[in-house]
Amino acid sequence: MRILFIADLVGNEAVDLVADLLPGLKHQHRIDFTIVNGENADKGKGITEKQIQRLKSCGVGCVTSGNHIWDPRKREVLVKHAGYLLRPLNYPEGNVGLGSATFRLESGEKVAVLNLQGRSFMYSIDCPFRIAQKEIRRLRSETPIIFVDFHAEATAEKQALGWHLDGQASAVIGTHTHVQTADERILPRGAAYLSDAGMTGPVDSVIGMETNKAIERFMMQSHVYYSIAKGNIRLNAVVIEIDPQNGKATHIERINTNKEEFFRER
Ligand SMILES: [Fe+2]
Ligand SMILES: [Fe+2]
Repeated sequence: MRILFIADLVGNEAVDLVADLLPGLKHQHRIDFTIVNGENADKGKGITEKQIQRLKSCGVGCVTSGNHIWDPRKREVLVKHAGYLLRPLNYPEGNVGLGSATFRLESGEKVAVLNLQGRSFMYSIDCPFRIAQKEIRRLRSETPIIFVDFHAEATAEKQALGWHLDGQASAVIGTHTHVQTADERILPRGAAYLSDAGMTGPVDSVIGMETNKAIERFMMQSHVYYSIAKGNIRLNAVVIEIDPQNGKATHIERINTNKEEFFRER
């Protein structure tokens, strides 16, 4: 079975691109289940009800997220769509939303998705390593097919979690940096690994944000409001093939394309 994971959507133009390319991507890669990280879909912060409905209607099976999902004005979507929209599981107890869910596919197979967040250069939340192990033990009683979106800043922390979960998870895919890495591989005990899946959004930018504002922020070291960049939208994703009998990954492939290239190459 094959899972398509699309990296952090930045802005509504990214949602448009997913809607345009998803039917073709699913067909071309014989995709059974699609997961999208939507933490930056609404102008860089969180995701709206309308965007969730749009992703749902174009065939996205699950939306993961990260640190930017907690915009207080948009928290109701985490409550309303808990179990479809996930937030990192290892935030302190009492926060709204869910961090993992299982999905029954048309083929009868079951896929579990687990969203976690790193702590290095981020927030001092609960330990993702311990929580992952405990949660995967629970999820494995339902299915061996387990996809992990690890939303983290530090490559070392991502690699460490990849090794920690090798043999337990089918895939450990990093998000958050918005830059796709080229280190995709299958670890020895069958976990597909990629340090960062990248970004679906405007690439003439600083991780999705307008360049002048980003430069000003670095030069001034005082608060400057970011605004998201426009145009030159690319889709970053990864396709993972998994043996449904044992949950081990057999193939991993990166995707980095835009509308023009995608339709020209087909
Ligand atoms: Fe992001
Ligand atoms: Fe993030």
